[in-house]
Amino acid sequence: MEIHKIFIVGAGVMGNGIAQVAATSGYHVTMMDIVHEQLEKAKAAIKSSVEKLYSKGLIDEAQKESALNIKCVTNLATVDDADLVIEAASEEREIKRTIFGDLDRMARPEIILATNTSSISITKIGAATRRADKVIGMHFMNPVPLMRLVEVIRGFSTSDETCKTVFEVCRRMGKEPIEAKDSPGFISNRILCPMINEAIFALQEGVGSPESIDAVMKLGMNHPMGPLALCDLVGLDVVLSVMEVLQRDLGDDKYRPAYLLRKMVDAGHLGRKTGRGFYLY
Ligand code: 3HC
Repeated sequence: MEIHKIFIVGAGVMGNGIAQVAATSGYHVTMMDIVHEQLEKAKAAIKSSVEKLYSKGLIDEAQKESALNIKCVTNLATVDDADLVIEAASEEREIKRTIFGDLDRMARPEIILATNTSSISITKIGAATRRADKVIGMHFMNPVPLMRLVEVIRGFSTSDETCKTVFEVCRRMGKEPIEAKDSPGFISNRILCPMINEAIFALQEGVGSPESIDAVMKLGMNHPMGPLALCDLVGLDVVLSVMEVLQRDLGDDKYRPAYLLRKMVDAGHLGRKTGRGFYLY
């Protein structure tokens, strides 16, 4: 099926990044969030990003205009018009299952419902619908406009046709799709989040300061940013929730979240999005 119109659920960092890239790739995009202020913040983030990309000649005037004209809505009423839905809402299993139940009722039965979940089982999300063959993971990386990967995850019932269509959409968005099994954390977060969590253990045990831990990984391992700065970018709440999923679903305490990570999330120090994490913004 030809995809022209994409409906994005959730206007947080990932949702607005996906909306922006979809719009600059020629899709008609609607971005939905139940919180009106979140849509305003998302529009400001998209404006700032496309202006940077335009000033560097990485996108043209028409692409910039498409991103600035993304339609914003606060409910699912118009989702029946979409050819593809990409969900990037809260990383809570029950919330996602509720959203997918609603999407299944309201979106046309033939369309694909994708989720940007960073760790929740695609099979379980698919089971909340009557179209599990059309439910798939499209896991984008932050910052979406700059990162090339989309990890594509097939649930137990996802069809070959769904997978093929999503690969084509990723490529049209200028991304490189890589397939991963529906296993906790998939490939990316199975490896990345335990590394970040270990850096937090090192910090809580006084092995190094945030600056020295990050400098070791940047200068010694050529990582573009250190694990603590990356945790601030991704969101401490997201890393905590991935670690909890890994520990619970893989049944191994080697994935236990660092105490300091839990405390910082309790304190509301979630990283860049709250202005404070391991660093101040
Ligand atoms: N849109 C447009 N431009 C952007 C941007 C955005 N969203 N974000 C950053 N930029 C621009 C900056 O303005 C800067 O431009 P300038 O050189 O003209 O000032 C340029 O990109 C480079 O940025 P910085 O100088 O700030 O820093 P870096 O050179 O380190 O690049 C980075 C930034 C691309 C984020 C790089 O540090 C990087 O690749 N870091 C790792 C990111 C990563 O690992 N992401 C995956 C996280 S895991 C995930 O998302 C999955 C989830 O489920 C947990």
